[in-house]
Amino acid sequence: MPIQTEGIVLKNENIKSNYYILEIECPPIAREIRPGQFIMLKVSDDRYPLLRRPFSLYRRFSIPGKRDRIFSIIYKVVGKGTKEMTEFQKGQKIDIIGPLGNGFTPPPLPPPGNIILVGGGVGIVTLYPLTEILKDYSIYVFIGGKTEDDILCLDDFKKKSSKIYISTEDGSLGFKGTVLKLFSNIIEAKKIKNCLYIYTCGPSNMLKEFSKRLKNEDIPCQASFESRMACGFGACWGCVIKTKNSLSPYQRVCKDGPVFNLNYILWDDL
Ligand code: FES
Repeated sequence: MPIQTEGIVLKNENIKSNYYILEIECPPIAREIRPGQFIMLKVSDDRYPLLRRPFSLYRRFSIPGKRDRIFSIIYKVVGKGTKEMTEFQKGQKIDIIGPLGNGFTPPPLPPPGNIILVGGGVGIVTLYPLTEILKDYSIYVFIGGKTEDDILCLDDFKKKSSKIYISTEDGSLGFKGTVLKLFSNIIEAKKIKNCLYIYTCGPSNMLKEFSKRLKNEDIPCQASFESRMACGFGACWGCVIKTKNSLSPYQRVCKDGPVFNLNYILWDDL
């Protein structure tokens, strides 16, 4: 059950270009939050920005004396709200609602088999905690971004995956092009065999393209959708997407997702 509570800022640091890591001590949420779930964070007490912002889990920490008390998020400064977050100070109390949404589930089939993670931009952060629940699998990771500055969690994945593929749209790091183009190249070259499952997260145009790309592949895919959210817990219906559910086609990203089976989504022109 989500709760509204206070967390204490332990660290708020710039990690690269306009990306920051925020570590929060908040036992009730740190104990419960699962990969793919998110929190709504009140970014300011001012009238504007009024709304909370959604952030997905990056890591949970167990440090001596503070077991299951701390979790972290990575955020990108994109507007006034996230700019104000950069001012959070160590020891400051912040208002959080969470854990929210339905997270990822492990593949129904046991190992052996390979898992592919495909993340675009800050979406790769949402996929990182999956490594907690996929310990028995070989994990192949695709990380994409516009430039080298947008490639996140590289060192984290180096410790947890069998192989990492990187793409940037400007060619500043790795393959030049989109992460989906790189994914297609590797799959077509049969460099990853016996893939049981794919997990992905990124902007909706990327997920739509991915859906198109996977149409003829027999590989199930769970996708975490990024959406603008007002309430974050299902009350305002401001985050709906259309699905193949004939009884209730419109579903809320915040409450019914943010993780959906990708082939369950109904794209208008696909
Ligand atoms: Fe209000 Fe999803 S953000 S219902």
